[in-house]
Amino acid sequence: MSKLEADDLRWALQRRIEDVFAKLGEKFGDLTGRVETDIRPSVSFDDIGGLVHAKATVRGFAHALTSPDLYQQWGITPPKGVLLYGPPGTGKSKLARALATSAAAIFYHVKLFNLTSKFAANTGELLQEILRIAMSEGKAVLFLDEAEALSLEHLLPPPQAREASARLVATLCERLDGVPETARILVIASTSRTDAVDAALVTPGRLDHLVEVALPDADEQREILELLKARMERTAARPLFEPVDHRKILPMMGGMSGADITEILRRALEEKVHRVAEGGQASLVSTQDLLEAIDRYKRVRSVVEKIRYGQYL
Ligand SMILES: Nc1ncnc2c1ncn2[C@@H]1O[C@H](COP(=O)(O)OP(=O)(O)OP(=O)(O)O)[C@@H](O)[C@H]1O
Ligand SMILES: [Mg+2]
Repeated sequence: MSKLEADDLRWALQRRIEDVFAKLGEKFGDLTGRVETDIRPSVSFDDIGGLVHAKATVRGFAHALTSPDLYQQWGITPPKGVLLYGPPGTGKSKLARALATSAAAIFYHVKLFNLTSKFAANTGELLQEILRIAMSEGKAVLFLDEAEALSLEHLLPPPQAREASARLVATLCERLDGVPETARILVIASTSRTDAVDAALVTPGRLDHLVEVALPDADEQREILELLKARMERTAARPLFEPVDHRKILPMMGGMSGADITEILRRALEEKVHRVAEGGQASLVSTQDLLEAIDRYKRVRSVVEKIRYGQYL
């Protein structure tokens, strides 16, 4: 597919999805939200550091999209869905996108928190329509991000949330059960809160493959750090970092996710931008610069935690 054809398809899909929103909006009143489509996703498994087991498992699911006939030959049906679970910022979205890339599938990103803020229990009907569109366009990865939002706990008081969520999940399960075996579609849900995911969703024939996406250990952090550095240098088309002294950096990063490491590198680079913008000279990012960025980042994080747990309220 050429870039032009991909752009055309993206526009057409986006129009169809907007039509669904408009139609359901008329029916239920004031509905907003977005489903983002990526016709030719480009994140590769090689862009993901660590996560050896999760990567291998997720990579295997691509066969469900590219060679469903193989499953038939072995007397089974291809999987329909996967639940990725683990702490925030550990690469769940990236894994889902890499799967779509490796299978040359269209990636549909459904951010459930945004949708349910207006849709509440009617999300079931929306998801049904999105599934229908996705199935009509060849290979698809439907990514249900923030699956814990299906509990509707953020919208309704507990008793109503339980009831509305049960209806929503029942509709979604019905739709999943109704996906034909020949459909080249994989539903990938992602959550950092397994306690808020309905057990009905993860029963056989639904999102019945569970993949843990854990926080990186020190070796994995090192791999992620080097991958991110290389990507930033490719983007800037020049060296940005001095060689990093990992023995100094890694002990300071215990418990940090890939998203945290991304943010630390960004902050170290931002510091350079400020210096140059103010007429100064800026050298490459050194280990010392990174240590300072880690320190600043930790301080910001501790304030965020205090706000989250209400100590400033
Ligand atoms: N294992 C990893 N390898 C490379 N980059 C990573 C990894 N984990 C996280 N990142 C980086 O951190 C950022 C967040 O990753 P991603 O969105 O995939 O995390 P997530 O698990 O989906 O987070 P959330 O639960 O908050 O949705 C991305 O920009 C990504 O580049
Ligand atoms: Mg994510």
